[in-house]
Amino acid sequence: PYPWYAELRRASPVLRDPRTGTWMVFDYHGVRRALDDHDAFGSDVSAAGYGNLGWFIFFDPPRHTKMRALISRAFTPRTVAGLEPRVREIARGLLDTTAGRDAFDVVGDFAVPLPLMVIAELLGAPADDWSRFRRWSDVILELALTLQGGAEAQHAVAAFTAVRAEMARYLAELLDVRRDAPRDDLLSRLLAAEVDGSRLSDGEILAFFQLLLLAGHETTTNLIGNAVISFAEHPEQLARLRADPTLLPSAVEEVLRYRSPVQAVFRVTRRDVTLGGHAIPARSLVLAMIGSANRDPSRFPAPDAFDVARAPNAHVAFGHGIHFCLGAPLSRLEARVALGELLARTETIALADDQPWEPRAAFHVHGATRLPIHVT
Ligand code: HEM
Repeated sequence: PYPWYAELRRASPVLRDPRTGTWMVFDYHGVRRALDDHDAFGSDVSAAGYGNLGWFIFFDPPRHTKMRALISRAFTPRTVAGLEPRVREIARGLLDTTAGRDAFDVVGDFAVPLPLMVIAELLGAPADDWSRFRRWSDVILELALTLQGGAEAQHAVAAFTAVRAEMARYLAELLDVRRDAPRDDLLSRLLAAEVDGSRLSDGEILAFFQLLLLAGHETTTNLIGNAVISFAEHPEQLARLRADPTLLPSAVEEVLRYRSPVQAVFRVTRRDVTLGGHAIPARSLVLAMIGSANRDPSRFPAPDAFDVARAPNAHVAFGHGIHFCLGAPLSRLEARVALGELLARTETIALADDQPWEPRAAFHVHGATRLPIHVT
């Protein structure tokens, strides 16, 4: 999409899609405004007639602030740093299953299970159930994709309804165990939590469970896959990284900027707003195009160059403002550990040209569903 973004940033950085009535924002300045000005650009998509699934990512203050606060302690950089040994153990275990093979699917065999197993354990679910979680979040993602309506929407809603019931039964069992004997996990914390003097309902806990399962892996999976693609396409940058592993954190930031796993986030105008000279009426759906903002030459010199040592690198791949990604420290850790372990075990990595990688079919998430590689 990048040449298309570049053209629109030049020609019309704020654009109304005449087919759907959705506004799209392509330049860095405009995207930052949409993310930072949460009074004008709200997150509650139900104001524009869509379901918000009870997920706090789609809430506005004051409810958003309270719900986010319930779990934010579990995701601070300090808490997350304590998870590193376990993340490394999981990464090594998964790579062990590929040992001795000169080709494997780095997404299916590695980048999918790793973050799912980590988020499952944080929540308090067995890591071994990860393939079930993958199936559930595929269905939820499908639903998110139909935000624009259309024929497949009915199918996606039906599939989601079935999955929601299955998840509710699964969750009820985990909660029952914890009601009697709380543990050191997120579900136990949510059971004990109070908002405005009352406990959360099971439905509210289910919403946390769904949001964290989906947000906690889909994006990190794509970050790891996108890193492998970027490295394979820029062997000189990979050589630089191999020569100086202290570049790994900045390489991860550059992948986030260069191939942003989340390409766009939704907002709904809460009043009439002027942006980039356009009058946007209240209750309009707005797409802040993060993936385009991260390639804006007014903010990033040589934006189409992949530079593992880029500094400064003030990308908005995790959003900005009050909804800034809660999982950013966790996904940075996971990506650093995953890529560090992969590089340590290989001398060369090449995309398998007999089996090209398959993109995830979604305009707002950017990643591969299958990414076969050859390694030595
Ligand atoms: C919010 C991206 C990983 C949990 C966000 C937002 C973005 C984002 C762009 C802002 C949404 C908005 O403004 O509407 C990413 C990327 C990730 C990643 C690119 C990995 C590369 C994770 C992980 C978790 C997570 C691992 C959880 C374990 C959340 C939550 C929110 C959020 C709960 C909502 C925060 C709020 O509304 O206050 N993420 N995310 N994310 N992310 Fe992430």
